[in-house]
Amino acid sequence: YALTIGVDIGGTKIAMAVVDGDGRIIDKHRVDTPASDASEIRQAIAEGVRKLREKHRVMAVGVAAAGFVDSARSTVLFAPNINWRNEDLKTELEKELSLPIVVENDANAAGWAEFQFGGGRHVDNMALLTIGTGLGGALVVDGHLIRGAYGVAAELGHLRLVPDGLHCGCGNRGCWEQYASGNALTREARLLAKHSPALAGALLEAAGGDADDITGEIVSAAARDGDGPASELLADLGGWLGLGVAQLATIMDPAVVVIGGGASAASDFMIPAAMDAYRRNLPARGQHPELTINVAELANDAGVIGAADLARTH
Ligand code: BGC
Ligand code: NA
Ligand code: ZN
Repeated sequence: YALTIGVDIGGTKIAMAVVDGDGRIIDKHRVDTPASDASEIRQAIAEGVRKLREKHRVMAVGVAAAGFVDSARSTVLFAPNINWRNEDLKTELEKELSLPIVVENDANAAGWAEFQFGGGRHVDNMALLTIGTGLGGALVVDGHLIRGAYGVAAELGHLRLVPDGLHCGCGNRGCWEQYASGNALTREARLLAKHSPALAGALLEAAGGDADDITGEIVSAAARDGDGPASELLADLGGWLGLGVAQLATIMDPAVVVIGGGASAASDFMIPAAMDAYRRNLPARGQHPELTINVAELANDAGVIGAADLARTH
């Protein structure tokens, strides 16, 4: 099998992996994400790819980025949670590395990996939701990853669930990602700790007493330790997931919705609430066939595996 490299640019780490044609990771490299400056991030990617190429023969590189990617799979047009506008990653990196580069939306890459090798491999129609800083989405319809006319499908995190709702980095209000994302979880946990410190005792203790130091990991760990308010925060997030999934079912009728990203570690607390909200908001409920919501199988590797695989088949 020819090998390709997948790169996943995350908020804190850039993950890179050499991947074979069966989606298996052969080698890995990780570096801290430079403070979101685009040229430094490009440098870090180029260096990492060079390191991996010293040991492996690779034929292409796929780069997954958390933003709207154009249909040429070259330029990040806009990233709601990073300061990127019209970043032509492909052209710059090809100059630097003399290797074919394919840029992908991070969630589309992860969704493709789950469809080929993970939680969606037994079905033809699936949606993926990645719960990280934002909420990423990918749609696979009849075996095809949907990119749309201009490359920017599927931006599920910006589906409006709440008219006049919370402000979003995309410029709109009431987007799904303001209610079902890592940022939403920490925001709600911190508000709870400020307004009802008595309820949030376990969370505050784990954060060293400062509400603003509560993280998503702290909430998940507290829920696993049996803390009621922490598991309620996760169930609330699950409820928002389910509400949106019911909308999604009207659009593309997936067999499976795969939940990935950092917060999927807390899926035990989110998925039952998500199924419940999904059922209560499904049109023609009782008569409507039911999808299932599953946890991602490839966990944090989905982005690099999908980016590498999409680079191979490009
Ligand atoms: C962005 C998407 C991205 C998602 C997950 C959203 O805010 O609009 O492009 O896939 O976050 O990183
Ligand atoms: Na997407
Ligand atoms: Zn938005």
